[in-house]
Amino acid sequence: MGKIKFVDLKYQYQILQVRINKAIQKVLNHGQYIQGSEVFELEVKLATYSGTKYCVSCSSGTDALLMSLMAQGIGPGNAVFTTPFTFIATAEVIQLLGATPIFVDIVDETFNIDSSKLEIAIDKCQSNAELIPKAIIPVDIFGLPANYEMIEKIGKKFNLCIIEDAAQSFGGKIKNKKACSFGDIGTTSFFPSKPLGGYGDGGAIFTNDSGIAEKLISIRNHGQGKSKYNNILMGLNGRLDTIQAAILLEKMKIYPEELGQRIAIAKKYTNNLDQYFTCQHVPDGYESAWSQFSILALNSKERSICMKKLKDSGIPTAIYYPKPLHLQEAFCNLDYALGDFPVSESISQQIFSLPMHPYLTDDNINNICEILISCKELVE
Ligand SMILES: Cc1ncc(COP(=O)(O)O)c(C=O)c1O
Repeated sequence: MGKIKFVDLKYQYQILQVRINKAIQKVLNHGQYIQGSEVFELEVKLATYSGTKYCVSCSSGTDALLMSLMAQGIGPGNAVFTTPFTFIATAEVIQLLGATPIFVDIVDETFNIDSSKLEIAIDKCQSNAELIPKAIIPVDIFGLPANYEMIEKIGKKFNLCIIEDAAQSFGGKIKNKKACSFGDIGTTSFFPSKPLGGYGDGGAIFTNDSGIAEKLISIRNHGQGKSKYNNILMGLNGRLDTIQAAILLEKMKIYPEELGQRIAIAKKYTNNLDQYFTCQHVPDGYESAWSQFSILALNSKERSICMKKLKDSGIPTAIYYPKPLHLQEAFCNLDYALGDFPVSESISQQIFSLPMHPYLTDDNINNICEILISCKELVE
């Protein structure tokens, strides 16, 4: 049996090598490295795939969030509600613009933001009157869309913009509606290890609002107006490279098949492990893009035993996320403390992620699950 990788980008490249090399060579030949035709071709394909009117590609999933907040004019004195159980980028961009992240705990089954707690937090912020609530950034954690039925109702009730952080969930869905299409704006990441990853940084923003799309196009190009040296907004250099777009166009062709393989692998993991570990719950009608397959051990001691036993057999694992954001030094200015978000805190002590990529074999999965189940017997 070959070595099991956490994410196997090399194997995927072997499959696509001829096509990707040709696509890169084409860009090298035409020489439009910035905003070449591949960028706009990709945007049309991405918008069609996710069922939105507009897609604005950009330099990373982080910049996709930053640019979305900029397009909404969010800054000092504004509150943006999000989850503490996510990658730092989600909340980092809020604080970068001088706005205030307000964290809301997650649901212990889906690991996504708890909509009932969200409503309470917005109400509290409104009555406090120090900050003006402006936006919600729900995260589709590990690929599973958040509860948009509830979140969109809350957004409407309080007149807040919803920015879906779909960095991990491109291809996920609720019924027939795809990730990136929820709320007012959806953002995703093409970081190499993401379900749809490039060979470098990249991201995209999705919306049905032509005004927002227009602003985003300007922001990603230094706030450019109608001509090159006419600047109408504060912007940044947020463009996606043409070479990355060319690579992503090739990867898009096999993405539906790869996503199907991820879903099948997650099902096999769940069937094998469900009686021994808590697996992420996928509500009826939801489909995850399975950027990660994460399970909960009973506690951090059991988690260490499992991770060590897998490591001893050459099987890599990772912890997403060992420390919720409200306890990170970068956010110490917000004065949160241990105990503020008990669900996120306890899950961060129990969770770990198993290898997940479309090229895992049944033997790989059975091997991983057998080792994990044997750990359970050890602990008991
Ligand atoms: C939830 C989430 N948001 C945002 C990002 C940022 O994406 P990027 O690394 O492309 O900037 C990531 C990347 O890991 C992420 O997982």
